[in-house]
Amino acid sequence: MAKAIRFFELNTGAKIPSVGLGTWQADPGVVADAVTTAIKVGYRHIDCAQAYQNEKEIGTALQKLFSEGVVKREDLWITSKLACTDHAPEDVPKALDRTLENLQLEYLDLYLIHWPVSMRKGSVGFKPENLTQPDIPSTWKAMEALYRSGKARAIGVSNFSSKKLGDLLDIAEVPPAVNQVECHPYWQQGKLREFCKSRGVHLSGYSPLGSPGTGFIKSDILKNPVITTIAEKLGKTPAQVALRWGLQMGHSVLPKSTNEARIKENFDVFNWSIPDDLFCKFSEIPQDKLIKGTGFVHETLSAYKTVQELWDGEV
Ligand code: A2P
Repeated sequence: MAKAIRFFELNTGAKIPSVGLGTWQADPGVVADAVTTAIKVGYRHIDCAQAYQNEKEIGTALQKLFSEGVVKREDLWITSKLACTDHAPEDVPKALDRTLENLQLEYLDLYLIHWPVSMRKGSVGFKPENLTQPDIPSTWKAMEALYRSGKARAIGVSNFSSKKLGDLLDIAEVPPAVNQVECHPYWQQGKLREFCKSRGVHLSGYSPLGSPGTGFIKSDILKNPVITTIAEKLGKTPAQVALRWGLQMGHSVLPKSTNEARIKENFDVFNWSIPDDLFCKFSEIPQDKLIKGTGFVHETLSAYKTVQELWDGEV
């Protein structure tokens, strides 16, 4: 029988809903409708970030859903992320307070360091002159204080390589619960997945469809013959197959959509599964990372002189 895979358990004991609505590149004008539709369809996990510049609109949608009795706060999982401009320990609690105010919430279920990259406070845009030297241990201490305060019920990181995650685990008093990274059939994260598993860190996958519609990333995952053939055989769409692959690999998936039909489609991934003889075909797909973070790399101004350094070779 197909396994439902509705939640994954974190090292805090909390259960993270396995499918979350991504909100990166969801325009402020449409994100409220997308969140409302998703929650009415059954999503219980919304993935946000200060950098996405749409948390205010998401907060308005959530408040309306609460006041109309559609869903209770305690039944939702809300993630947000610390922006690169707020890494200074004294800025970390202020950044969370700003996000909570925008989202109109008392606490987050998960707060992540968005990138292992820091930028000048208040700076706008990914200009090399805005980059500063990251001090992850100090930033993490401030994150731990938020965890202890209860305002962030779990804390974690995003875009951390195995090496950077390992370095953090070596000094953390509260180990990160999650590492949210690019993960899809074209970038399966073999090494990082094993490392996360061995250290009890949950891997959460962003761009699980390969961000097909986005301007600066080009991926044809949903047209890949391995995926389209499996989709045809199972009577599912390529997007559903890509998402279900993620769930069966053991990571949560965060598909972004602002389209009602696709929001529904992306949630119909629980009561069926990809059988083993088809699942093994994913290992034949050549690997190609989409999001390289080149804007964070600079020969003299960044802590990372090359893309290889940013990802510690996992690229
Ligand atoms: P839209 O918002 O118009 O639905 P990812 O989550 O990998 O970043 O991918 C997001 C991109 O994929 C968006 O451009 C989104 O467009 C599109 N998308 C989301 N769901 C589907 C789907 N089921 N089929 C095809 N494209 C999708």
